[in-house]
Amino acid sequence: MTPQLKKTNLLKEAAFINGKFVGASTNQRFAVKDPATGEVIGEVPEMDVTDCKKAIDVASNTLKTWKKTTAKARSDMLERWYDLMIENKESLAQILTAENGKNLTESRGEIEYGASFIKWFAEEARRAYGDVIPSPVADKRLIVIQQPVGVVGIVTPWNFPNAMITRKLGAALAAGCTAVVKPAHETPFSALALCELANQAGIPEGVINMVTTQKHTKDIGKEMAESEKVHKLSFTGSTGVGKLLMEQGASTIKKISLELGGNAPFIVFNDADVDAAVEGAIGSKFRNTGQTCVCSNRLLIQSGIYDEFAKKLVERVKKFKVGHGFEEGVTHGPLISEAAVEKVKRHVDDAVSKGASIAQGGKHIKGNFYEPTVLLDMNTSMAITTEETFGPVAALYKFSNEDEAIELANDTPFGLAGYFYSRDVGRIWRVAEAMEVGMVGVNCGSVSFESAPFGGIKQSGLGREGSKYGLEEYLEKKFICMSI
Ligand code: SIN
Repeated sequence: MTPQLKKTNLLKEAAFINGKFVGASTNQRFAVKDPATGEVIGEVPEMDVTDCKKAIDVASNTLKTWKKTTAKARSDMLERWYDLMIENKESLAQILTAENGKNLTESRGEIEYGASFIKWFAEEARRAYGDVIPSPVADKRLIVIQQPVGVVGIVTPWNFPNAMITRKLGAALAAGCTAVVKPAHETPFSALALCELANQAGIPEGVINMVTTQKHTKDIGKEMAESEKVHKLSFTGSTGVGKLLMEQGASTIKKISLELGGNAPFIVFNDADVDAAVEGAIGSKFRNTGQTCVCSNRLLIQSGIYDEFAKKLVERVKKFKVGHGFEEGVTHGPLISEAAVEKVKRHVDDAVSKGASIAQGGKHIKGNFYEPTVLLDMNTSMAITTEETFGPVAALYKFSNEDEAIELANDTPFGLAGYFYSRDVGRIWRVAEAMEVGMVGVNCGSVSFESAPFGGIKQSGLGREGSKYGLEEYLEKKFICMSI
């Protein structure tokens, strides 16, 4: 543990209900470990459905007052929360690196990214406008107002332990909703630190509640999905779990937002700026050691520039420094768990057994560390074609023409992000329109901004986060018909 982490008062070893840091009703706890070393960072309560029900009751009671606060009051509180996140950026980043493993520079970047959602929704809170509809009859006035959905259940992943919470909570609180959050068991400390700062920002007790659990994740998810007191569920994670929550939420016709898995294509055409495409691929493929839903999974490279692209990509990947996220100069940290390493190994072994060649890396280092890898001669029979690797493996497929690239890119049930590089303006429009995804990066490898809609189509999810559209997910429209 770093000296700074020991000192910080933001490392909370308790859950957060009704404005207080509390234990589980059973008094049980579980350990949170540094994925780079296996060292225990601390412990948090092992909560179960009883605790979750308590948190839901608190959120439900608090909703009565919170939904009546003005948009301005909520906006001011969110602004204060944002300021505190920025003031505490270093401590938050240290906590993030300790429990997630990403390097400190990336963690600092995530804190800024996470905070940007709070700032954005502080501003958007004031813009939840309604409508006056021109009436078709003389004696009636038709008005639409927007109101908070109610209590929101939020389930978040370990890969962005800060930003995936703020992207949801910022919008929920701005709209006037209260929330019960279940952070990933691997990374609860980043989430709990946000609760401490929310307290300091003056966000009233009971507005944000956080239940921590390792063993009871499934039951708590089910409770949130089925409870009549929870009006909306927002989940980021695997498509399998998303489907289950959707099924469970059907019992109460739950409003639901899902940000699920991807299988992003990254296409480079012969007319592309190859150096720019290599830089884009580095960011898009290897950010967070390949552990993002928008990471490119299949690099589709046109035959005319395939060799040049591969050579330049390998040169860049060779320069990576793998190690503990706290170490100076480290560019890539560990994977989150042994299971994650196993999946990467399986994908590489499968590809090699079916004819792929390893141009770089391809080996397990130790513990949760795997070499950043470049695979050539990929074909569609390989597991990487259909499964998201969620690890540092760049898999290069060769294609010959635009139609083939689009067909390959869309040949997946997923549709989160897609990227392509070309300098032909006609092609840019054609391909951007043809890609079956929610987000397209044209000549860029990053699509994540607080002001832009984040989300997928097909089996990658429902709804959008961030942007002006993100607020709508937490608002209901009410039509008022008034006789005069
Ligand atoms: C994710 O991996 O789910 C989120 C990535 C991002 O916000 O850029």
